[in-house]
Parts: sequence; C-alpha cells; structure tokens
Amino acid sequence: MERIKFGCNVLLFATFFVAVFVITYAAALKEGQTCVNNQNCDSGLHCEACVADGNVRPRCTRVQPLSPFSKAKGLPFNRYSWLTTHNSFARLGETSVTGSVVLAPTNQQDSISSQLDNGVRGLMLDMYDFENDIWLCHSFGGKCFNYTAFQPAINVLKEIREFLEKNPTEIVTIIIEDYVTSQNGLTNVFNNAGLRKFWFPVAQMPSNGGDWPTVDFMVKQNFRLVVFTSKSSKERTEGIAYQWKYMVENQYGTDGMKSGLCPNRAESPTMNTTSRSLVLMNYFPDTPDFTQACKENSAPLINMMNTCHDLDHKRWPNFIAVDFYKRSNGGGAPAAVDMANGQLVCGCNSISACRPNMTFGACNIPEAEVAPVTTKGGKSTAVKAGQPWLFLTGLVVLTLILSLSL
Ligand SMILES: *[C@@H]1O[C@H](CO)[C@@H](O)[C@H](O)[C@H]1NC(C)=O
Ligand SMILES: *[C@@H]1O[C@H](CO)[C@@H](O)[C@H](O)[C@H]1NC(C)=O
Ligand SMILES: *[C@@H]1O[C@H](CO)[C@@H](O)[C@H](O)[C@H]1NC(C)=O
Repeated sequence: MERIKFGCNVLLFATFFVAVFVITYAAALKEGQTCVNNQNCDSGLHCEACVADGNVRPRCTRVQPLSPFSKAKGLPFNRYSWLTTHNSFARLGETSVTGSVVLAPTNQQDSISSQLDNGVRGLMLDMYDFENDIWLCHSFGGKCFNYTAFQPAINVLKEIREFLEKNPTEIVTIIIEDYVTSQNGLTNVFNNAGLRKFWFPVAQMPSNGGDWPTVDFMVKQNFRLVVFTSKSSKERTEGIAYQWKYMVENQYGTDGMKSGLCPNRAESPTMNTTSRSLVLMNYFPDTPDFTQACKENSAPLINMMNTCHDLDHKRWPNFIAVDFYKRSNGGGAPAAVDMANGQLVCGCNSISACRPNMTFGACNIPEAEVAPVTTKGGKSTAVKAGQPWLFLTGLVVLTLILSLSL
C-alpha cells in the first residue's frame, strides 16, 4: 500500500515538473493565446482574463502600442497618436504619502515609470497646492485633502525626467488639470524636477491649425516635453501652453461614452475646429471601473474613435486617454493607438501596415509581403498550436497542486 502511494507521488511530482517545464519554456505566446502568467506572453503583452466581456480564460493581451517611429520618423508631431493615461498618478492600492488611506478613486495599475516603459506617452495629472508644495491629488470642491492626496508632484516629474534622459528620442506630453494658484507654483516644480531642459517652448506651437514641428526637430532641439495647462492665464504668466488653444477634446466621463456621439468638453472648441492641430479623445466613465475597463478599452473604444472621426472633420486622435490602460480583452487601448497611428502616418488601419516611403493610403498589399513585427528581446519562437496544450497543462498543474495538498 505504502509502496503504491509512494509510486503515485513520484509520478505526480514528475508530471508536475514536466508541466512546469513546458509552461516555462512555452514562453512568447502571441496575443489571444491562453496563458498562465505574464511570463508566458511575448513582450508587450500580459496575461489576463476579461470576465466583463465573457472571456474567463486568461489570454495574452496587449499592454504596449507599437512605436510609430519604427515606421516613420520625420513627421510633424500632430501626425502621431499617443497612448494616454487618465489620472496617471492615481494608482490602485496606493496609500497617500501623507500616511492617510486614499479614499479617492484610482484609475491605473502601475507607476508612471512603468507606464512610460510600456509606451504611454501622454499623462493626465491633476495638480494642487497642498502642504506648501504641489501635489497630485483628487479633490472635493477644488480642494485637496490628506485622504485624496497621492504624492508630491515632484516625485512623478522626476520619474519623467529619468525616462527622458534614458530615452533620448522619446517625447512625453503632460496634460495638467490645474488647480495651482501659488505664484509660479508649476514653474518651480518643473524646474526643481530638472525638466526645464526638455521644455517645448509655447512660441513654437502652431495655434492656427498648422503642422507642429517634426519629431526629428523636437528630438534634435531636445524639445521633448510638451506641457499643457487647463488655466488660460498661465500661458502669459508662466509660458505654459493653454490646452484648448492647441487641441480639441471630446467630453470626458460617462457622457462621453454614448455610442454614436462625440461632443466636445465644455472648455474645448467644437471637435470640428480645424484651427486646433491636436485631437484628444477621452474614453472612460465618471467612476473608474476596474472590472469593466477591459471591455470598454476594447471594441467600444475603437467604435468611439470611428464615431469621433466620422463626425468631427475626419480626424484621428493624437491622444487616446483611458483608465486602466493595461486592461483589455485583446488589443485594447494599444491597438486603438496602433490604428490611429496607421491612419495618421500612412492612411492604413494599423501602423503595422505602414511601409517606408509608401503612397499614403496604399494599404492593400498581400499579407505575406508585410514584414513581421520584430518585438523587443527577440523572443519570436512561439510554440505553434501551443494554446490548448498550455491550457490543459495549466489544468493538470492545478489539479496536481490540489491533490498534493490533500
Ligand atoms: C495631513 O498629513 C500631514 C502629514 O503629511 C499631517 O501633518 C497633517 O496633520 C494631516 N492632516 C490631517 C487633517 O490629518
Ligand atoms: C461643427 O460642430 C458643431 C457642433 O458639434 C456644429 O454645430 C457645426 O455645424 C459644425 N460645423 C461644421 C462646419 O461642420
Ligand atoms: C525613402 O525616401 C528617402 C528620401 O526620399 C530615402 O533617403 C530613403 O532611402 C527611402 N527609403 C526607402 C526604404 O526606400
């Protein structure tokens, strides 16, 4: 009896290790393939389910857009689209630096550094005077409290500086919801964070609907930080660009998610105003919803992008702002950005279809001619048809763990 049991256990253990081995070495799964954890997935992907969309089996889903610079380097800034995080600083599970529990809603899952590493290039930051400093905060009645205060803005601005220093060809845009009234409050915090050297001068921004400087020019001049404020007076007093002088923006929150409509937010000119060169598209509910975000960031986001395009002078968004940008049931917000980049850069439905020097809109080339997208790290040895295999193996492992622990 004991011998049989011992034999059984050995067998179970052997199977367990084989299963672990298979899962470990079946890394680099493609988008949509069933996974057990993030390490199974190819770079730029992570492993998650989207129960809100009826997708209970964890799959590899996108967290990174393709870099549009890989296809077209020298275009004006307004010919690109950027993944943008709404309330980038309001991280799930964060405790306030004041020590207080944060009672304010949270909109993202990871730090600003991690967002930037994943290809986020637009950051929406709410800034307030608080504790004799500038803080990232939510508010009640325009006022920041300990239990709605996340952290001093300088911490996050330093993360942005580090990213810009490490990545000398990248450009980051900050869109400030500005509640700061202290004199030169914003100027001081940007200077103290060491960001002045990257500042894109407001005098070089086109305010008549013309093209922006090219990204090459911006990189060469080190004009790699584009900052907008929601306070019009600060353009004159501090040289910080007033957002809606350069950009149209659709309604944020739940009112902005009504299918078939794309109204402007109150502060913005109407969406069809072509004297603004940039287009910002918001797509997130009034109250951030972690569970639903994977669904909303998928087909409905693309639908809204098409709606806004059709209604508003056939323009594609330069900034696509969402909550929980990592969540989707497949391509998510990164795929929406790839689509907008494809349309803006070469007139095709994805940036992956753009080829060097191609005629704008000449997209109908056979699949085979499209070069495969090379991913960072070069992990391109996906196990063919490994998907059901992996799922079964996962089940076997779970069963084993359960039976072993009995
Ligand atoms: C808010 O937090 C600060 C520490 O950052 C503390 O000194 C202060 O007493 C707190 N205020 C309240 C009302 O709890
Ligand atoms: C622009 O949009 C506004 C409101 O969305 C509409 O009233 C106006 O007729 C549009 N103008 C043009 C030229 O399409
Ligand atoms: C694209 O055009 C530029 C300038 O006309 C040229 O220098 C470059 O070699 C071309 N690239 C390809 C891949 O044809």
